[in-house]
Amino acid sequence: MAFITSKWNGKEYFPIHNFHHVEFYVGNAKQSVHYYRSAFGFEPYAYSGPETGIKNQVSYVLKNNRQFFIFTTPLNSNHPGSEWLKKHGDGVFDIAFLVDSAKEAYESCLSRGAIGYNKPFSIKNKDGHYGKSSIKTYGDTIHSFINDRDYNGLWAPKFDSVKLPNVKTENTALVKIDHIVGNVELDKMDDWKKYYETIFGFMTFVRFDETDISTKYSSLKSIVVRSKNWKVKLPINEPAKGIKKSQIEEYLDFNEGPGVQHIAIHTNDIIKSIKALRNNGVDFLVVPDSYYDDLKKRVGNIDEDIDKLKELNILVDRDEEGYLLQLFTKPIEDRPTLFIEIIQRKGSRGFGQGNFQALFESIEREQALRGNL
Ligand code: FE2
Repeated sequence: MAFITSKWNGKEYFPIHNFHHVEFYVGNAKQSVHYYRSAFGFEPYAYSGPETGIKNQVSYVLKNNRQFFIFTTPLNSNHPGSEWLKKHGDGVFDIAFLVDSAKEAYESCLSRGAIGYNKPFSIKNKDGHYGKSSIKTYGDTIHSFINDRDYNGLWAPKFDSVKLPNVKTENTALVKIDHIVGNVELDKMDDWKKYYETIFGFMTFVRFDETDISTKYSSLKSIVVRSKNWKVKLPINEPAKGIKKSQIEEYLDFNEGPGVQHIAIHTNDIIKSIKALRNNGVDFLVVPDSYYDDLKKRVGNIDEDIDKLKELNILVDRDEEGYLLQLFTKPIEDRPTLFIEIIQRKGSRGFGQGNFQALFESIEREQALRGNL
């Protein structure tokens, strides 16, 4: 049964202030950068590579208002990212958090059973103080801890400014990361719930299973953990048994294991954002027209014009605190794994559970086209 609570009962072993950035491993960062600039409106922010003293990889940092995405490509087959890419294809490697001390965060997590990935690294120089450490999470994904609030250099040590040719793009009005969702294996969701509660001191504030969300052919179970200040929200899905293949199972097959399923990006004006993203060539899931027939009955009065929402295929969901508007892209890569969600919140702190039925019907149509249903 659905379970939602907003009362904090976690343990803040160390403050996690916010998402710091998301780092992708990609086969060709130069081309990925062009896509995220032209389609999603990101701007080049910093670069590291052979020119800045890093011999085996290139990384581009892109910025869009308050969110940073990094695209990293290994330059040789010995780089651990090459194995990662061979297995998973392009995808999210690191969900990084802003903390007070990367060293203390790392030691705190390891003392409660976390597995380290990169030991704490810290530098103090004319630019100030920068620290980073990383631990493992589901699949081949990691969490980095960054302290850079006293660092005045550009992005991080060994990063430099980057100048790229102009790209034509419409302002997408995307503001910040709202939540990042992971898909894990069957019966593993509760292990990862425990991991985030034990290691991070997060609390579980939403839980739903096949009795809440189901379609005729596919279903999933989901929980959401969050940080004390609500800035970091991490839903975790696992497949639930159905007559045919769950979309989470399809993800696990194509990703060859657990990983990040979607990044939800917050906007203050979803109509403006979706219009711009569509004009920039972003491909969204198709919502059946019938979805809008009973929308008013389902969500009551909303500020937006329903015809406008229908035209742009925007979804709406309401809970006791308010409502939210959202829309999901189709997978943004050839493997049907990672996608992006655009979300605007008007009081609701939910994730659009009421939209799952409509969303799944739409996803299943895509799945059927690929012969995986
Ligand atoms: Fe989401």
